[in-house]
Amino acid sequence: MRVLVTGGTGYIGSHTTVELLNLGHEVVIVDNLYNSNIHVLDRIERLCHQRPKFYEVDILDKEKLRTVFKENEFDAVIHFAGYKAVGESVSKPITYYQNNIAGSLNLYELMNEYGVYNIVFSSSATVYGDNFEVPFKEEYGLGDTTNPYGTTKKFNEMILSDIAKAHEKFSIVLLRYFNPIGAHPSGLLGEVPNGIPNNLVPYIAKVANGELPCLNVFGDDYDTKDGTGVRDYIHVVDLAKAHIKAIEYASKHNGVEVINVGSGKGYTVLEVLKAYEKACHKTLPYKISPRRPGDIATCYADTHKAKQLLDFEVEFDIDKMCEDSYNFTLKNPNGIE
Ligand code: NAD
Ligand code: WQD
Repeated sequence: MRVLVTGGTGYIGSHTTVELLNLGHEVVIVDNLYNSNIHVLDRIERLCHQRPKFYEVDILDKEKLRTVFKENEFDAVIHFAGYKAVGESVSKPITYYQNNIAGSLNLYELMNEYGVYNIVFSSSATVYGDNFEVPFKEEYGLGDTTNPYGTTKKFNEMILSDIAKAHEKFSIVLLRYFNPIGAHPSGLLGEVPNGIPNNLVPYIAKVANGELPCLNVFGDDYDTKDGTGVRDYIHVVDLAKAHIKAIEYASKHNGVEVINVGSGKGYTVLEVLKAYEKACHKTLPYKISPRRPGDIATCYADTHKAKQLLDFEVEFDIDKMCEDSYNFTLKNPNGIE
């Protein structure tokens, strides 16, 4: 298949591009490099011995995006491009709605115009909000999101579901990711957060390499086994592989499917810290801090639908996720350059 990957130089997009290329698919990346780096393409080339076609285009620029559709005949789209910082979305809602909604609408409009009907969309477990019991099941539907970022994911799911209803040729897979972490085992690709990380594992990585003094554990009085928050972590390479299965599924079906992508297992903050200590052979300092506003106690996926529809199961465990994260951190002290 010839696949348009928006946001393909980003964290999940770059890993997915590698998996697509390794399976013989053709990849065209569109990214404005807002949160990624052109050198990611060199890394992909080192891993796959081919360089994906790349357009430095902002999806908000519909005419430039149209050129990409004019110059390439796509079989499918994997849509990663978007802003993803939860806290920032609270202070910049207009920016988030503009980029994640208006940008996406440009893409969907051009797909319809150019007859490209298969799409996999990056949604998030955040759309369950705090309304439901774990494990989160797709049939629960959409909960009350707690921040504009989450609402952009919820709106995209609603928009794409309406598109599938109105245009019967469309085939849409909404992947709800749980907590993607880790890096490519080669150490060539991984997550490069801007400034002080908000997410747990990128933060621990900076404690492990001495850039930050100590992890703040946000709350130890949740109703969980050690009082700290429980999440469903998934290795980014497993997540990338789920996209291949999803795009293959989309190319053979019509309509819309919502599918969780997680491991189905929950780990507490202290369990993740322990796994990371094992990976880096160090004791990592931490202190208990107040709960972070908006956090829920426990979040993990029901993974039956992914298994049933996509035959998808994760391969890598929490130890491997931490090992690969630390390996990437050690090999790339200044990020991808
Ligand atoms: P990322 O920031 O590493 O990648 C997103 C890419 O999109 C970046 O390279 C950025 O430059 C690009 N981009 C942003 N706005 C753009 C625009 N207007 N035009 C063109 N390119 C643009 O993020 P990621 O972690 O790889 O996430 C990919 C997708 O998955 C996002 O939509 C994110 O919301 C979603 N998601 C991520 C997580 C997570 O924890 N990482 C969890 C659930 C869902
Ligand atoms: C995990 C656990 C924290 C940092 C976020 C987004 C979600 C999705 C994935 C995009 C929680 C605790 C964290 C720290 C801590 N992204 N923690 N100290 O909040 O589950 O999900 O990323 O769609 O939408 O909200 O991930 O990694 O921030 O937190 O104790 O310095 O670690 O309280 O229990 P979260 P996270």
